[in-house]
Amino acid sequence: MNMSITERISSGIEGLDILLQGGMIKNTINSIVGSSGTGKTTVALAYIYQGLLEGDHTLYLSFEETPSKLIAGAESLGIRIKEVSQNFTELIHLVESEKIVEFMTNILPALAQKLKHKNVRHTRIILDPLTPILWEFPSEKEQRKVLTKIYQHLSSLGTVLQTVEEPNAFGQTDIGAIETRVPIYLSDTVVHIQNLGLGGKYNRTCKIVKSRRTAHHEGIFPMHFAQGSGIAIDTSSIQVEYNDPLVYDTRYNELMKKVKQMSKDKDPKKRIIAQIAKNLLNDRQEKGDKIELVDALTSPQILQEVKK
Ligand SMILES: Nc1ncnc2c1ncn2[C@@H]1O[C@H](COP(=O)(O)OP(=O)(O)O)[C@@H](O)[C@H]1O
Ligand SMILES: [Mg+2]
Repeated sequence: MNMSITERISSGIEGLDILLQGGMIKNTINSIVGSSGTGKTTVALAYIYQGLLEGDHTLYLSFEETPSKLIAGAESLGIRIKEVSQNFTELIHLVESEKIVEFMTNILPALAQKLKHKNVRHTRIILDPLTPILWEFPSEKEQRKVLTKIYQHLSSLGTVLQTVEEPNAFGQTDIGAIETRVPIYLSDTVVHIQNLGLGGKYNRTCKIVKSRRTAHHEGIFPMHFAQGSGIAIDTSSIQVEYNDPLVYDTRYNELMKKVKQMSKDKDPKKRIIAQIAKNLLNDRQEKGDKIELVDALTSPQILQEVKK
């Protein structure tokens, strides 16, 4: 078995996992930075969806949009949250602006403490977007103090994905602005997504700005909105063999869905096969591995076994 020192969490976006050498490191702070409409919330929705498929505990805090709007947006891109969540109406929590400070400084740490004692395998935490919290603390010194504390609580609880608004006009870019500097500085991983309006393949792009403990890829990769995974990142330029990330993601998601259904089956044999399949899927580290696993698990032989 492939043993690695750091456990990686799949982002739910195939191409992003490839750029991050398998995904985000468990219990780290990961930022998606980009200007309005670049796709940050879509990345966050893909992340929570992947968590639901894997049976993770999830905590999605929205500081901007209502849960119903967010879920409708996800569904429109084929991210079928309603299908995999037993209680999707309670999946996303809207934190109103007048309650942000109280929420972040008092309620969240208490909640984190409470959840810590629950026996969950892994928790995904989403802050979307972090920006209104930053507005409450205008000085960088204060932002640093407050965020450091929040991140300590949250990263002990699970793997955090936050989105950060880049305050630029369309077609311009600068992630060194005061609105993004502190979260970038404090994050373990920063993914910068852009829409520079260039048209064509590179109209929307994705770049890993930093990722601690990861030999990540440095390039700028084409990105587009896609049915199924929400967002697809084209990493064909760094792959020996070209595989459509969208097709792959869809196959993987389908497989996880099957595994989840099987794990609830009355037949103990099916439940055992589901457990093995889940372990194998969770163990996947690299694309090569994943392809093999998916092929093995979808082979007619295995499927026949499962159908028995
Ligand atoms: N089905 C779709 N097909 C193509 N583009 C879409 C689709 N749904 C949303 N978008 C694009 O996504 C943008 C919003 O993405 P979102 O993730 O909310 O961005 P952000 O959170 O960065 O503001 C929309 O403005 C639109 O450009
Ligand atoms: Mg958004």
